[in-house]
Amino acid sequence: MEQLQLAVIGGDGIGPEVTGEARKVLRAALAGAVDLVETEFALGAAHYLETGEILPEDTMAEIATHDAILLGAVGGDPTDPRLAGGIIERGLLLKLRFAFDHYVNLRPTVVHPAVESPLREPGDVDFVVVREGTEGPYVGNGGSIRVGTPHEIANETSVNTAYGVERVVRFAFELAETRSKRVTLVHKTNVLVNAGGLWRRITDAVAADHPDVSVDYLHVDAATIFLVDRPSRFDVIVTDNLFGDILTDLAGAIAGGIGLAASGNINPDGTFPSMFEPVHGSAPDIAGTGTADPTAAILSAALLAEHQGYADAARRIRDAVDQDVASRPASTTTSATGDRIAALVAAA
Ligand code: NAD
Ligand code: IPM
Ligand code: MN
Repeated sequence: MEQLQLAVIGGDGIGPEVTGEARKVLRAALAGAVDLVETEFALGAAHYLETGEILPEDTMAEIATHDAILLGAVGGDPTDPRLAGGIIERGLLLKLRFAFDHYVNLRPTVVHPAVESPLREPGDVDFVVVREGTEGPYVGNGGSIRVGTPHEIANETSVNTAYGVERVVRFAFELAETRSKRVTLVHKTNVLVNAGGLWRRITDAVAADHPDVSVDYLHVDAATIFLVDRPSRFDVIVTDNLFGDILTDLAGAIAGGIGLAASGNINPDGTFPSMFEPVHGSAPDIAGTGTADPTAAILSAALLAEHQGYADAARRIRDAVDQDVASRPASTTTSATGDRIAALVAAA
């Protein structure tokens, strides 16, 4: 039987708890189709505090030999001075996204009819945010001078290349071709004129190659209004790294909880392993309580299965999640939810 080499980075806080459940479900879904070989990598804030290691080069090289990566969440207590400056988030998570050229950060949102959305009438919500994953203000291209003085100047530079923007915009249009054929560019072209201008021109040029896809544009502030007022208007949203980060936490909240929001950091060229993770973080406030919702991690595993070519396994995971959320007990635990979904997958 063919093998699927999976690198697992549980990470910190609820990360290992939710990936544990996603692995149960993935094993059930892939049984009989592929030999799933899981390798755990101890990485994250806790590992760094213990060992001083963030992401050694040889570990990175070893991760690169895998077919795909499943990640929980990384990052510890934001008030811990030893973790200041996002050293774990930047040195581990962003380093993986950049090194493995995860230029598409795919973040789907579906409002399940049985899930209580904070919106009174969410309507038929089914959209995907295609968030650029390797550029923008995330590249760390900035600096500070006169630090700690009243004259301090702190700069963060957003890097947007024609190459980087075009490839993610093309991906968004190709995705829209397989869906409802609507692309919304979200940016802030009224203020960020340089980057905004580039995104706008490239979107217009790519749109010309997809005459059957309708395109519109929203400033990011207005996009937050529509996401709350009429989220059903969206099909594919394409946007930069930072706007995409913010919009997808909002999207998770309107879909009934951040514990349901899945994502894939995709390297569409297949040169490097893609990495699948919930949109949420390590949730230190609930870590160890057994109350974290593992659904986002489980749906991230479905994205993983689909990306690796196991469409049937992905469908069975999604169907099982749909069934489970429709009948989920009011009070449940992380592992009980994983067990129920794994059992539904195995029975399908
Ligand atoms: P967070 O997403 O961890 O938590 C925000 C809120 O959502 C918390 O109240 C938390 O309890 C709740 N929540 C999150 N996931 C949940 C789940 N599965 N079930 C139920 N409730 C859930 O965001 P934060 O507090 O801003 O970040 C905490 C740490 O995680 C920070 O160190 C941050 O940098 C890191 N982080 C990591 C990732 C990642 O690794 N991909 C993503 C986001 C944040
Ligand atoms: C996410 C997270 C990360 C991001 C952080 C932890 C660097 O918020 O995956 O959404 O901003 O991309
Ligand atoms: Mn985020």
